[in-house]
Amino acid sequence: MKYLLVAGARPNFMKIAPIHRAFLTRQNGRSTADLLLVHTGQHYSRNMSDDFFRDLGIPEPDINLEVGSGSHAEQTARVMMAFEPACLEHHPDWVIVVGDVNSTVACAITAKKLGIRVAHVEAGLRSRDMSMPEEINRLCTDAISDLLFTTDTTADENLRNEGVAAEKIHFVGNTMIDTLLRHINRARESAPLNGHRQGSFGVLTLHRPGNVDSRPVLAGILGAVGRLAERLPILFPAHPRTVKNLEAFGLLDFVLSNPNLHLMEPLSYLPFIGLVAQARLVVTDSGGVQEETTVLGVPCLTMRPNTERPITCQIGTNVLVGTNPDKICEAAFRVLDGHLRKGCVPEKWDGHAAERIVDILLNQV
Ligand code: UD1
Repeated sequence: MKYLLVAGARPNFMKIAPIHRAFLTRQNGRSTADLLLVHTGQHYSRNMSDDFFRDLGIPEPDINLEVGSGSHAEQTARVMMAFEPACLEHHPDWVIVVGDVNSTVACAITAKKLGIRVAHVEAGLRSRDMSMPEEINRLCTDAISDLLFTTDTTADENLRNEGVAAEKIHFVGNTMIDTLLRHINRARESAPLNGHRQGSFGVLTLHRPGNVDSRPVLAGILGAVGRLAERLPILFPAHPRTVKNLEAFGLLDFVLSNPNLHLMEPLSYLPFIGLVAQARLVVTDSGGVQEETTVLGVPCLTMRPNTERPITCQIGTNVLVGTNPDKICEAAFRVLDGHLRKGCVPEKWDGHAAERIVDILLNQV
């Protein structure tokens, strides 16, 4: 059997790393040439891509598609056009895609139309919010996948409700958490604390188009963060899209002039996780950070009206706060006043999800 394992954007890299490693260890000396790593190039900057490969010990990709940025249609189309010849050249039996970015859906569709089987890791998550590009990517990818690996049983239920045959669905756990548990000690050591002590700062991440592409929404969030920063210094590793919009909307000075709000370049995996692990509070609109904070036991306020990861709210440390500045501040001050949710870790988020995935894949005929 020959497999192509696809990654394209920052949130993919921590999900493929343990799958790649599990393939090599499970193959027990068989040739490793039947697993090829594909990087679509959706993310290409050093601090959005190469640094993650280095931190996570992922080898150089075997195939680089180098598609870069563009509108959704352009980016998705470019991945498809570049991935098709790679499939025709290498004749994989399986294409393995992870997460919900444009590269995920583009490679899944390309493979499926060539008659190649598709495995989707992190299947079945649903926000029910069709204004999120990722929700469209998730629905399309799951609809055509042959094997669907899920992180929790709610996702299994979502898939069954959509008519996916039960034998295609495998509840395996969370490969992103495999990576977190493997690297957490190194991560703590490489956190750029900038003189802060553990528990004496907050971390902000912000990049979702719904939050950063509209000036009033972005200004409202920053107003809330400014009020929060009066009580807790905030470290803000900013996504390139966010920085671009801060400049375009004339909001950059507001951030730079606040001595308690520290704008930083995007961080690589280890320093970022190291900061999150030691933060008093995380304020975010990310998907993955909701899960990482739940495992680390760090309070997380998610600035979105919904989440495709409801388990992090049900049993973890995550609270949905939306983007209303007063609501954000109210929830943040509750945490600072000691009202903490003591979360617990979801089932099978135990560091062995990738091994389960690879065992299932290697048993397919
Ligand atoms: C993508 C994913 C999103 C994920 C996010 C994490 C989709 C639909 N979205 O969104 O789910 O949460 O990644 O980062 O796939 N840029 C750079 N360097 C890079 C990559 C991007 O400067 O390496 C800039 C470019 O100006 C680009 C913009 O960031 O136009 C947005 O990048 P893009 O890949 O289109 O989407 P993300 O917002 O990163």
